[in-house]
Amino acid sequence: METIRFTKNEAAARTIAAYYDTPPMLYVHSFGCQQNVNDGEKIKGVLTDIGFGLAARPEDADLIVFNTCAVREHAEQRVFGNVGALKGLKEANPKLLIAVSGCMAQQKEIVEKFKKHYPFVDIVFGVNGIDTLPDILCEKLATRKRVLRMPAERGEIIEDMPIRRDSTFRAWLPIMYGCDNFCSYCIVPYVRGRERSRASADILREFRQLVAEGYKDITLLGQNVNSYGKGLPEDITFAALLRMLDAVPGDYRIRFMTSHPKDATRELIDTIANSAHISRHLHLPVQSGSNSILAQMNRKYTVEDYLSLIAYAKRRMPEMTYSSDIIVGFPGETEEDFCATETLIREVEYMQLFTFIYSKRTGTAAASMPDPTPHKEKTQRIARVLAIQEQVVAKLGGAMVGKTVRALVEGPGREEGTLTARLDNNMTVDFAGGAPVGEFADVRVTGVRGAMLKGELA
Ligand code: SAH
Ligand code: SF4
Ligand code: F3S
Repeated sequence: METIRFTKNEAAARTIAAYYDTPPMLYVHSFGCQQNVNDGEKIKGVLTDIGFGLAARPEDADLIVFNTCAVREHAEQRVFGNVGALKGLKEANPKLLIAVSGCMAQQKEIVEKFKKHYPFVDIVFGVNGIDTLPDILCEKLATRKRVLRMPAERGEIIEDMPIRRDSTFRAWLPIMYGCDNFCSYCIVPYVRGRERSRASADILREFRQLVAEGYKDITLLGQNVNSYGKGLPEDITFAALLRMLDAVPGDYRIRFMTSHPKDATRELIDTIANSAHISRHLHLPVQSGSNSILAQMNRKYTVEDYLSLIAYAKRRMPEMTYSSDIIVGFPGETEEDFCATETLIREVEYMQLFTFIYSKRTGTAAASMPDPTPHKEKTQRIARVLAIQEQVVAKLGGAMVGKTVRALVEGPGREEGTLTARLDNNMTVDFAGGAPVGEFADVRVTGVRGAMLKGELA
């Protein structure tokens, strides 16, 4: 696999300086997952590198980039709505440039739709085009024509792209790109391309730099981090990578997402248990508690495999918390299938659950499966999940009351005068008392309110 080392586009920097009287301003909005947020940070990095400044609001921008998500229909509709709403800004400022990037721009039909129905969109580029953005922009400024790039499959890894991170203490660190799993409902493998891992030396270098810059909470990203290393010339697994990073001295914590249950191992659990820095929290999306639905989803594990791994983790680390994604109303999901999901949720006791109604994605295997369940039934199932979840969260939160925990202060809390901080197990606590944002603080948990803990500085 080819690695390309990014270098600054000096010609583009000169073009920008000549075209604008004052440094142009950029506004980027990323939808979707952390991978996309990280891409948005690279878009900012690549463009500030050639002379852009960052605008706080779209109204103050010369270039607006919508970095989009295609995972569910609702996500796409939101993007169309948001882009449509820019029409007025464009009329007020004809020099304003509007760009659409990300996963939606990886689909031909969507690019065609922008071309036909959104004439005020100037630039479209896909997830693999961030490094070429300076050239795309120069082409737009030189020709004054729309530059709508059709999605291209690129297998290279681009290293050394400049980045402007949104936070000074929480960082996203991709260790791999793409996905090869083809879960039958999912569009991601089609828009993000084939799975490819970064070399461990490149990851380690970026990681060390983050620690040196004072980042306290570093999340390793990949659609399935547990298959890290596949196809690399070096012989390395995800657990081995974790051990390598955990050995870096410093005051920080490591998180990772997402783990696919089919590739999550006891070695991974042992690695977490033996580590100094890895968060005691596992995001392990189960999607469904029915073996028949899991098979139709092409998930390649059974409920029994899943529960046995969770049971092992609970034995090794009683303090560990879990979170999951659940799809409700997958084609053909019966009341019985759904009851099996309810049973599983009760058994695992997730601290956090992300629940989605199945959304049909054109081109995926599930799109052609019969789906007779009425939408109303599906929304009722979601409500049933949420009701169970409320009880579970109250129980897990209640067990924290009275404990003193180390938590990373993230910013203002919900109530006036409070701060919010994130525990190692990914719970959040709102507490009274001053403490510096971006640093760890010891907080005594005094109560629970919904999914949020309440506390005071210890
Ligand atoms: N790679 C990750 C997450 C990818 S998308 C993983 O495997 O867990 C995040 C979540 O969106 C998925 O876990 C799934 O629950 C949900 N999702 C993906 N496609 C969906 C669809 N077509 N309809 C509803 N939910 C979907
Ligand atoms: Fe989608 Fe499955 Fe890949 Fe996750 S592992 S991105 S759900 S295909
Ligand atoms: Fe969405 Fe693309 Fe992430 S489809 S969930 S932004 S990989």
